[in-house]
Amino acid sequence: MGDVKMRGLVTLKEILKNTRKEGYAVGGFNFNSYEDAQGIINGAVEKNSPVILMASMGACKYIGLHQTVGMIKGMAASVDIPVCLHLDHATDKEFIKEAIKAGFSSVMIDASEKDYETNIRDTKEIVDFAKAYNCSVESELGKVGGKEENIVVSEKDALFTKAADVPRFVEETGIDALAIAFGSVHGFYKSEPKLDFERLEEISKITDCPLVLHGGTGIPVEDFKKCVTLGISKINVGTELKKTYTDAVRKMCNELPEKEVDPRKYMAPVKVACAEVVKGKIEVFGSANKSL
Ligand code: G3H
Ligand code: ZN
Repeated sequence: MGDVKMRGLVTLKEILKNTRKEGYAVGGFNFNSYEDAQGIINGAVEKNSPVILMASMGACKYIGLHQTVGMIKGMAASVDIPVCLHLDHATDKEFIKEAIKAGFSSVMIDASEKDYETNIRDTKEIVDFAKAYNCSVESELGKVGGKEENIVVSEKDALFTKAADVPRFVEETGIDALAIAFGSVHGFYKSEPKLDFERLEEISKITDCPLVLHGGTGIPVEDFKKCVTLGISKINVGTELKKTYTDAVRKMCNELPEKEVDPRKYMAPVKVACAEVVKGKIEVFGSANKSL
């Protein structure tokens, strides 16, 4: 391990604090098991970049809540870059509180299905709870379209964030990051994404709160760069890593002889492939060598 500094998990607030003034975004990457999580961290280490590891409620239930925290804490303690462990798109307030108590350094409450007032109330409840645990909170205003785990928002129900709704939401909730809807979609795009850059610009002018772009899979490089220039601080990528993961496993199952029974032979390429994806995104998001 050499002289690796032992670090704990860092909050979302901490990891995003220089993004806007230095003109970069930190990647939030979804993981579902050990291999993709370790691959994400390895990619970030190679680029000397801060990184946000994101687990959905489904991923936490699959791995186990405490196992998720223990695994990522262990990984973070072995590397010299800032690592944030974030609960992604959580709709269940009790589950969020359990995750905070278990040691997540950041959570997203997704109350975007609810009306504005209820969204404020539910988000504030989580912010108040999280404070005692030094945990950050992200919340969503507007509705990002597409499918994220069991949250499905059809094209007609997707709702772009209104700039005028932002100041009161940020002020009254006390959130550390705001997920906004301006044309990105969860999952694979059916056609070329059309992002509403004017809306993004309007929102970033009206608030200092770090802004989050959801639905990073399939967004062209130039669009990512423009989003960062216009004030996006965190960019979420999930589906592309899921595809990378399963493609790698499928390839190994096709290539290795049936008599090969060492699981590591099948799974190790997942780490390498996920690290490659993450390194590419870090270059585009501008967070290389931004490890504090
Ligand atoms: O919260 C997760 C992200 O928004 C992932 O979106 O699966 O389209 O990359 P994506
Ligand atoms: Zn999302």
